[in-house]
Amino acid sequence: MDYLPIFLDVAAKPCLVVGGGPIALRKLNALLRAGASVRLVAPEVAAPLAPLIAKGQVQHVARAFSPEDLAGVRLVVAATDDPQVNLEVAQAAEARGIPVNVVDQAHAGSFIMPSVIDRSPVVVAVSTEGASPVLARLIRTRLESLVPAGFGRLASLCARYREAVKQRFTIPADRRRFWERVLQGGVAERMFAGLDEEADALMQSELAAGVESPGMGEVYLVGAGPGDPDLLTFRALRLMQQADVVVYDRLVARPILEMTRQDAERIYVGKERNNHAMRQEEINALLAAKAREGHRVLRLKGGDPFIFGRGGEEIDTLAAQGVPFQVVPGITAAAGCAAYAGIPLTHRDYAQSVTFVTGHLKDGTIDLNWEQLAHPHQTVVFYMGLSGLPVIRAQLLAHGVPADMPVALVQQGTTHMQRVFTGTLEDILEVVERERPKPPTLIILGRVVELREKLSWFRTPSHPAQGATTPILPAG
Ligand SMILES: C[S@@+](CC[C@H](N)C(=O)[O-])C[C@H]1O[C@@H](n2cnc3c(N)ncnc32)[C@H](O)[C@@H]1O
Repeated sequence: MDYLPIFLDVAAKPCLVVGGGPIALRKLNALLRAGASVRLVAPEVAAPLAPLIAKGQVQHVARAFSPEDLAGVRLVVAATDDPQVNLEVAQAAEARGIPVNVVDQAHAGSFIMPSVIDRSPVVVAVSTEGASPVLARLIRTRLESLVPAGFGRLASLCARYREAVKQRFTIPADRRRFWERVLQGGVAERMFAGLDEEADALMQSELAAGVESPGMGEVYLVGAGPGDPDLLTFRALRLMQQADVVVYDRLVARPILEMTRQDAERIYVGKERNNHAMRQEEINALLAAKAREGHRVLRLKGGDPFIFGRGGEEIDTLAAQGVPFQVVPGITAAAGCAAYAGIPLTHRDYAQSVTFVTGHLKDGTIDLNWEQLAHPHQTVVFYMGLSGLPVIRAQLLAHGVPADMPVALVQQGTTHMQRVFTGTLEDILEVVERERPKPPTLIILGRVVELREKLSWFRTPSHPAQGATTPILPAG
């Protein structure tokens, strides 16, 4: 390690930036964020600097650098586009013992400015010691996903309770265990979810309960998306790696399940057509019971929990029983399948609205507003509609949808097993007969399906030709 990483207090301290271009602006903004009093020396400045100068946030000295500019200065940044001038600034600063940063020539100065994730008061700084600022930025981008936006507020909450915790737990090991539980448990998660008051209340009950957990766990109702693990949200992933009980059903892709904590108890609750491993009421009761035992329970659902996911019923039971929960949205099958099949769900020319409906058969029929679904200039997406497709087709035709209306069937969308079949309302049953798609399959109806011919982009290893050489809309 060639540099000592430190955080410097520059609030209200005189700092100097030499240079008036975009890099100087970046450095200057960093200094301003830390509250420094900044003077800028440059004969001319780039347009974006002008408002800062006009508002008096920065004092501008409109001439070339002179060593006298360093009088009383605590810190200097040499950010001109002339390496010679930058070196002069560095030498003059070094001679006066003032820390100096030189852009693009880290070793010419005495300090470097890191790439920063600012969740004040939590600040993460990344440096490659000048070897590659771009790499530092890329590392920072990766870390962004690991440091939730609420970390700053969580740190402020910790600061508020620090003294009380010290008094409550006089043994350091107890104190450490307490903080570990708080920072990895319900208090932190409520803070990240923006439930600051609840986090505060829980913090107080945790304090009262002492080193033992107060007993009640919580439930995370999380949308796992349609299959591609890359489509998980940051929050979903974080909760998946925290929960000690995972309750999942058939639609959750195996690679996603593998991303949950390895030592978590995994409970399969099924839900295949006509083969429910557990009834909905039993699932609701299970979630509440596990949380009551003090567990952090992940209820992992395919797609989005609130779109044909019965998520509402599950949290209804939790709410009624006073079990804390939070809901994390996921990418619903319609959005995922449409994107990966190259079918925009709306389009200025072809579809001004999109409707998601269930195609689930009940007693051989589907109770839907067929007149509304038959309107032109819209896209209709049928979930759970594969076995009911003959009924759906017949109803749509009977309500006036033209027989040449394009239809797409997307099986296992977004995964490397994705298959897409297209046809028209007229011939779609023949397509099914020939291709034998299997659940989960989504049905997309509308003129937008024709756009797939131009917009298809996703290729699967198991079906390399798909979308590339097969005709999108079979002729005839
Ligand atoms: C019970 S619904 C659950 C929907 C889920 N909550 C969502 O937001 O996507 C199940 C239906 O969603 C559709 N589905 C879910 N994932 C899919 C995928 N990866 N590919 C195609 N269809 C999918 C199928 O129509 C399936 O029958």
